Amino acid sequence: VSEAERYVCGHSARELKRLELQGCYYEELSRRFLEAAGIAAGMKVLDVGSGAGDLSLLVADLVGPSGSVLGVDRTAEAVAVATARARARELRNVAFRCATLEDPLPGAAVDALVGRFVLMHQPDPAAALRAAARHVRAGGIVAFLESHMSGAVAGVHSWPHAPAYHRVLRTMVDIVTAAGSHPDMGLRLRRTFLDAGLPQPELWLQARLDGGPDADVYRYVAESLRSMLPLAERLGVEVPLAGDIDELEATLREETHTGGGVLTSWLVVGAWCRTES
Ligand SMILES: C[S@@+](CC[C@H](N)C(=O)[O-])C[C@H]1O[C@@H](n2cnc3c(N)ncnc32)[C@H](O)[C@@H]1O
Repeated sequence: VSEAERYVCGHSARELKRLELQGCYYEELSRRFLEAAGIAAGMKVLDVGSGAGDLSLLVADLVGPSGSVLGVDRTAEAVAVATARARARELRNVAFRCATLEDPLPGAAVDALVGRFVLMHQPDPAAALRAAARHVRAGGIVAFLESHMSGAVAGVHSWPHAPAYHRVLRTMVDIVTAAGSHPDMGLRLRRTFLDAGLPQPELWLQARLDGGPDADVYRYVAESLRSMLPLAERLGVEVPLAGDIDELEATLREETHTGGGVLTSWLVVGAWCRTES
């Protein structure tokens, strides 16, 4: 399979909806991260691997009408969905285009480069980050949020222990690994910044913790596994719950809610720095 095909979740309409679900799920956490990293009114920002546009839309809100955001993604389907969402909100300060992290972009250098859950999908994350960071002006911000999927282990991901959730999370780690992506990207971020020639970044670790019947986590996780199924099949990764995918959301809800328990999300690591001025 080609590099683009190896993107674990594909680009079906349902996957682009899943990205919106993920955007909502991580919205508050991401907003706090962007504010901590210094994203502020008036800035010109580049978001790489923008997907359905969720992080770009959040940044557009933070930079306001005097700032601007360009989201780039290598797939036309994602760019079309993100563009339609920005138009529906009548936002004039955000645009999307088809490009990779490595592609040159026209226009002046940006004040900040951001990305979420994208370096984990690069064969060489440091080389990709180095290439994207050349768009940043001297003294500008580089800020990335990446998950540390490998940290989802028994004793951390649920209480009381949730066996179906455990199987789903471990299977997703297997699929991501088989696809050549990096389930340990979160903890690799610091080293990736240094290998990309950037200064030592500030580091930040967060996760969500949810329980009860109405938590978003059940659907988010079930849809994430669903998006990975076609690639799992092509790569020959066995998925224990594949046959029950339509019931998975209910299974996860029942095993956690019935026991009065809680689930943690992936650990999410943020890293940010200012480039040399
Ligand atoms: C998990 S999604 C995250 C989307 C978005 N950043 C968010 O947090 O909602 C990763 C996106 O990165 C894109 N992508 C992966 N590698 C890329 C590359 N080298 N250049 C451009 N886009 C890339 C994929 O097409 C996909 O839409």
